[in-house]
Amino acid sequence: MIQKFSYNPKINTGAVVQKIDASNAPISFFTLSDGVFSYRMSDAACVYGLGEAMRGMNKRGWIYESWCTDQPNHNEDTRSLYGAHNFLLIDGDDRFGVFFDYPTRITFDIGYTDPSLLTVKPADLSLDVYIVTGDSLKGIVREFRALIGKSYIPPLWGFGYGQSRWGYVTEKDIAAVADQHEAAGIPLDMIYLDIDYMDSFKDFTVNRERYPDFKGFIEKMRARGYHMIPIIDAAVKKEEGYPVYDEGHEKGYFCTNENGDDFVVGVWPGMSCLPDFLNPAASEWFGAQYRALTDAGVDGFWNDMNEPALFYSEGSLNAAFDKIKTHEGKTLSALSFFDTRDVFNHLANSKEDYDSFYHNAPEGRFCHADVHNLYGYKMTESAANALKELRPDEPTLLFSRASYIGAHRCGGIWTGDNHSRWCHLLQSIRQMPGLNMCGFLYSGSDIGGFGGDCTRDLLIRWLSFAIFTPLMRNHSAIFTRDQEATAFGDTEVFRHIITLRYCLIPYLYGAFVKAAENNEMFFRPLCFDYEDDPAAREIEDQLMVGDRLMIAPVYLQNTTGRNVYLPEDMTLVRMSGGEITTEPVMKGRRYFEVPLGDVVFFTKGALPLAEPAKNTAELDMEHLTYIAD
Ligand code: NOJ
Repeated sequence: MIQKFSYNPKINTGAVVQKIDASNAPISFFTLSDGVFSYRMSDAACVYGLGEAMRGMNKRGWIYESWCTDQPNHNEDTRSLYGAHNFLLIDGDDRFGVFFDYPTRITFDIGYTDPSLLTVKPADLSLDVYIVTGDSLKGIVREFRALIGKSYIPPLWGFGYGQSRWGYVTEKDIAAVADQHEAAGIPLDMIYLDIDYMDSFKDFTVNRERYPDFKGFIEKMRARGYHMIPIIDAAVKKEEGYPVYDEGHEKGYFCTNENGDDFVVGVWPGMSCLPDFLNPAASEWFGAQYRALTDAGVDGFWNDMNEPALFYSEGSLNAAFDKIKTHEGKTLSALSFFDTRDVFNHLANSKEDYDSFYHNAPEGRFCHADVHNLYGYKMTESAANALKELRPDEPTLLFSRASYIGAHRCGGIWTGDNHSRWCHLLQSIRQMPGLNMCGFLYSGSDIGGFGGDCTRDLLIRWLSFAIFTPLMRNHSAIFTRDQEATAFGDTEVFRHIITLRYCLIPYLYGAFVKAAENNEMFFRPLCFDYEDDPAAREIEDQLMVGDRLMIAPVYLQNTTGRNVYLPEDMTLVRMSGGEITTEPVMKGRRYFEVPLGDVVFFTKGALPLAEPAKNTAELDMEHLTYIAD
C-alpha cells in the first residue's frame, strides 16, 4: 500500500508516475517537527536504499546528503555522490519504504547523531513523502517501483563488454583498441569516445583532424561489430558562430543569472552556458541536437558533467583573482597561506554559483539551488525523448552520471569517478542493490577504477565481479596507467573471464528484462530472498543476481579465496582456465579457494549458458547448454 503526504511541493519533479491522493492524516511512522522527519529505529532494524550512496548495503550508522556532486575523490566518509536517490527501506519492528520526493538538498541521518534515530531533513518543507508498506521487502520495492514507473531496458548489445578511456584521441587510437582485443580473442561490443573526439570540447561536434570521416569511421567500426559510444557534456561552449551556442542563446534556452543574462561557467570547453533542461522547449531543443551524431550512425551515448559540474563561474573566477592579488607581496601566516591556496580549490561546484543562476520551469522561475538534484535527470530525459524520435525503430544505449529517481525510466547510470582501489571494488558491489531499489537497473562502475593506477590483479578481480553487472565498462582517466584487458601482458585470463560474461548473457539479460518488466531488483542483498534467516541480514559482500544466482566476489588483494555464506544448498560453478565445472555445496559458512583468474559463483537451479562469442551479434541465444540441472 502507498500513502502520500504532501507538504506544498513547489515543482513536479517527474519522479512519480502514479496518481495518488494525498492523505490528510499525520504522516505514518515518522514524527514531523520543525521541518525534520524523525523515526526511532528498533535495535535490529536495517535500513536499505539511497541508491548509489557510499558505505554498506545496510545504511545504518552514517549521515548522507542528497546533493548531486561531481566527487572524484569519494571515500567511506563521503556524504554526497552524483545521484540523489531518496528512497529508504526500513526493516525492523516496522517494515516500510519511504520516498522523499524533493528536488534539492536533503540529509538522511541514519543513526549518526543518535544511534537509534533516523532523521530526514529537507532544506525546507516543500515536498511529497510516500510511505510504502507491504508483506515482504521485495513486495515493498515492487510497489515503490510501480509508483515511479518502469526501468529503462537497453539493447541486448548494451550487455556486451565496453572499453573506454579518457585519452583515446584519434580514430587510430580507437581502431587500435579493437585490433588489440581481436588479436587477444577478447569479446568486445562497445568502444567509448570521451571528450577528445569533439572539436574543442563542443557538444555535437567532431574534431575533423582526429576523425576526418566520422560517419565512414562509425560505419567501418559497425561492420567490424563495434558500437561507438560518444560522451555528451551538459555545458555548451560559449562561442559565437557555434550553432548550438548561437541558437541556445538567441532562443533563451540557457540558464540565466539574476538579471536574465546567460549564466557563464567554466567547464571543459572553457566559458560555457548551461542548457535549461527544466524548460520543456529548451529540453526538446537540446535533445534534437543528438541528431548530429545519430545521423552519423551513432546508437549510444553517455551523458556527463550533469550535476551540473562547474569548475568556476565567470564571476567567481574574477573574485578569486582579486582575492589572490590582496595577498601578493605579503608575508603569509599559516592561515592566510591556506586561505590563499584554497582560493582556487574552492571554486568548483560552489554554493555561491549554484545560488546564482535560474531556470524557467513550467511552474515558474527557480533558483538552481532549489532544484539542483533534477538537472542530470532532466538532461537524460531530454536525450531519451529525442532519441525515441531520432531512432524510433531500435533502442538507444543511454546512461548518465548525475541522476534523480525518474531518470531510471530514461537510461542507466554509472557510478562516476571511482578509483583503482580494492575498497572501491567492494563499494561497487554494495552500490548495486541500492541502485536497483530506486529503479536504476542498467548500472555499473568503471571497471578497474577511473582515477589512479590499476594493477593486473585488481582488474582481474574487478572483471570477475563486473561480468554480472548489466553495464560492463572498463574506463579510466587520462594520465593513469593503461588498464585495458590487453594492457598487462598475458591476455588469456582476461579472455576467459570476459568470454564467460558472454556465455552468461542469456541468463543475465533475461533476468534483467524480467526485473524491469515486473518492477523487481536484478541485484538483491541476501536478506531480501531469505527474510527469516538472521545470518543473511549481515552479509554485506554477496549478492543475489536474478532468480537463480548468488555471487560472492573476491575483493581483497593477495587473497586466493574467501568465506561465503550459503543460505541454502546450492551448486558451485567454477570457471578455471576457460573450463566450467560444478559441484554441490551445502548450506552454511564455508571457505572456497578462488585463485586469481578463477570465477566462482553459485546457482540454485539449472543455468543456461551460451557458446562463447566474439560479440553479442554473434551470440547464439537459442542453442544453450544447461549446467547444474
Ligand atoms: C568526468 C567523467 O566522470 C569521466 O568518466 C570522463 O572521463 C571525464 N569527465 C572526461 O570527460
